[in-house]
Parts: sequence; C-alpha cells; structure tokens
Amino acid sequence: MSKIIIANWKMNPASLKEAIKLAKESDVKGLVICPPISFLEEIGKVLKKAKLGAQDLFWEERGAHTGEVSGQQLKNIGAEYVIIGHSERRSLGETDEMVSKKIAAALKDNLKPILCVGETRAERDAGKTKEVIERELRIGLSLVKQVDHRTSNIELIIAYEPIWAIGTSTPDTPEDMLDMVKFIREVVNPIPYTLYPSIIYGGSVTSGNAESFLKHKEIAGALVGGASLNSEEIKKIVEISKKYAR
Ligand code: PGA
Repeated sequence: MSKIIIANWKMNPASLKEAIKLAKESDVKGLVICPPISFLEEIGKVLKKAKLGAQDLFWEERGAHTGEVSGQQLKNIGAEYVIIGHSERRSLGETDEMVSKKIAAALKDNLKPILCVGETRAERDAGKTKEVIERELRIGLSLVKQVDHRTSNIELIIAYEPIWAIGTSTPDTPEDMLDMVKFIREVVNPIPYTLYPSIIYGGSVTSGNAESFLKHKEIAGALVGGASLNSEEIKKIVEISKKYAR
C-alpha cells in the first residue's frame, strides 16, 4: 500500500491564480491537497493526479448555519478527504464532542476523515500526552459506529500532530512517533468499526526530515503544512514516501 501525504495549505495562498499555479506544480500521485474552501472547486478541476481534501466541515446537512459547509457540499465540489479537529481549530473552541459529530458526518457523506490529535507543550511537560491523545481519540471516534450501517468500507486517517511541533521547525522524533502509533492502535482497535486506520505524522515535516519518519512501515504518511506551500518541497516528500510504499 502506498503512503499518503496530505498538503494542508491552511489559509494560503491569497489568490485563486496563485492557488492554481501551486496546485498544477504540486500535482503528483500520492498527494492529497487541502486548499482553502474558496479555491477547492477550481483546484479540483486542475488536479490530474493528486486528490482533493477540505480543511473542515460542519455536521448538519443543511439549514441556518452561517459560515458553515456540509459534507455533502464538499463532496459535490469534488472533495474526497476532510481534515477534522486540527489543533488550529481546536484552539478556537472546537471541542472533542464537535469533532466526533464532524467525523460521523464525514463518514456519512463518504468523505475520508483525517482526524488530528496532539498535545500542547504544557501537557507534554506535565506527562499528560497519552491521556490527552486517548481522550481525543475516544470522544472523537465515539459516534463512528452509529454511521457504520450506512457506510461501506470506512477509511480513516489519524494524524498525530504534537501542537508544539506545528510550524516550529522542531518536529517530534521518529521514536516518539513509533511509540505513539502503538499507543493509538491500542486505544482505537477495540472501538468497533473503525477498522484499521492509517496513522500519519504531522508537525514541521520537510523534505529534510520526512525520510526519518516515512521509512518506518508503521508510519503511514505525513500531514504537511508550511512545506506544502513550496511545490518542489512537497514533491520531494511524496518522492521519499514512494521509496517506502508498503
Ligand atoms: P507544519 O503544519 O507542517 O507547518 O508544521 C502541520 C499542520 O499544522 O498540519
């Protein structure tokens, strides 16, 4: 199975023109590009090899929800994946309960959720890393089985992204990540219907450090923020991931 690299463009770039240029230059197999929602549909039209993802969704199907976007709407404009529970959204007030509704909504609409979990520096220093990750997983996935009867072949990606490693040029170590993969499997595997999620690493991944993570069979890929805004960088990371396709 090939590894998966997710490009999270966050709120970049500023214009559609720049976004299309970046998408065309980054368009390789094995990559999922998650542009801002405003560019999603147009980017979908230019991608030939990479897949398309969104950065968030809302759990209701329609109605009076100003500023929100439903799973169905994302699906209708070509998204296949959706990032859920990114720490930058959690820091604005998104709770584990909201994350769980979003995961269930994504699966119902046949989107592949990328559930982000991760601890702050203070939580790590206080020895609470596993407690935080376990809570985020248990609550975040608590509604999964309720949608199972309507959903065939659930595909779920879990991204471990220590918050202190995001956008800091200081990634976690591959050893810590391997330990975390084991822990995530211990927590998630007994939860019915979540099957066998792909577990990927995120937090200051670059072409310089990607190999140290991706060479391990347990690490299924990477979620890349800053480095994904440089097409040469992201293509190098995808290239490295191909060397270690399982
Ligand atoms: P980064 O971001 O690669 O810039 O650290 C990762 C993320 O926030 O998903």
